[in-house]
Amino acid sequence: MNAPQRPPSAPLRPARRAASASSSIVREILKVTMRPDVISLAGGLPAPESFPVEALRAAFDAELRGEGQARQALQYSTTEGHLPLREWIAAQESARGIPTAPDEVLIVAGSQQALDLLGKAFVEPEAPLLVESPTYLGALQAFNLFDPAYRAVPTDDEGLRPQAIDAALARDARVLYVMPNFQNPSGRTLSRSRREELAQAARRHDLWLIEDDPYGELWYRQAPPPSLRAFAPERTIRVCSFSKVLAPGLRLGFVIAPRECIELLVRLKQATDLHTATLTQRAACRVLASGLLETHLPQVRARYARQCEAMLAALERSMPAGVHWTRPEGGMFVWLTLPAGVDAMALLSQAIERNVAFVPGAPFFAGAAQPSTLRLSFVTVPPPKIQAAVGVLCTLITEALGAAKESA
Ligand SMILES: Cc1ncc(COP(=O)(O)O)c(C=O)c1O
Repeated sequence: MNAPQRPPSAPLRPARRAASASSSIVREILKVTMRPDVISLAGGLPAPESFPVEALRAAFDAELRGEGQARQALQYSTTEGHLPLREWIAAQESARGIPTAPDEVLIVAGSQQALDLLGKAFVEPEAPLLVESPTYLGALQAFNLFDPAYRAVPTDDEGLRPQAIDAALARDARVLYVMPNFQNPSGRTLSRSRREELAQAARRHDLWLIEDDPYGELWYRQAPPPSLRAFAPERTIRVCSFSKVLAPGLRLGFVIAPRECIELLVRLKQATDLHTATLTQRAACRVLASGLLETHLPQVRARYARQCEAMLAALERSMPAGVHWTRPEGGMFVWLTLPAGVDAMALLSQAIERNVAFVPGAPFFAGAAQPSTLRLSFVTVPPPKIQAAVGVLCTLITEALGAAKESA
């Protein structure tokens, strides 16, 4: 069918803020990887087989049954979010030993929305914002709109190094954005002692901590150490998501923070979208209150642990010497560091020609990028395909290393 004829649009004159908005490289790569012949280790999508379809269908159905109830579920609601859902979240958090009241909880349309609201709330143009190195690309996209001057907090094999937060690094900074559990992109988890040190550093330098934790429930053998709220409740803003434990299409996440902070975010959210979808919140709350996660989460964890094992075994079997990778204890990602001189972006074009995709590491750095890094996701690919894809990457990396030696 021919596209309808339309007059050309008037010249677009977007605000400077909008003109600087970038599209995520992951989304661009994902477009290529929609081809059925491509094995994609690029996406950060959860395995669709893990979505609790029947439970959600029944919950939506129940919400829309009964005249009065259906009309309530389809009505506007409060910006803070559906009270029974906030009560459920507060009870879960309190049961983990971190006392939490429902008015310290805000329901958002996915944790990505929380990052946008936090950008609006705390990021001044050209003022310093502390982030890990590497950090979540989507957070950089959200914060970029507010034009921060990023300062990268150094990391090592155990994640962010709180000892590296000195007066010079923290000067004039208000917040530090961190993913303590199964970090995206590195898969690393902060130890308990580093969490304690981070809380101390935050107090010392009067920083608020944005703790982004969409993966904490996806542990394989044991739960990660407690949330940063256990160590610095007065200055931690915890951002969580139902995307990886129920389904991302629900667009449901939440923020837990001191009341004053929640009130500020509520005012900003009102201006953004009034509130998160009433029907979705109510249906999700029904599913959660039924105790579904008690049986559902162990299945998701076991599935992802198996897939991760398959990837680590494939890497172990065939990667040439000099290539290093993380060994995550939960979550969805493995992070590779190639010998210096091998550019992951160049490797990606060659890999796509051979029907394999991954995400080069460079876009995950706010400051100086490491071009010889890359992120692999294993959760949506069955083990035989993981093996085949890692085999292709090994061949390409071995060739690149050979070429680098010859030109040296
Ligand atoms: C670290 C991190 N934060 C936030 C998000 C956004 O998740 P959502 O908006 O689906 O809750 C993601 C998505 O992959 C993520 O990896």
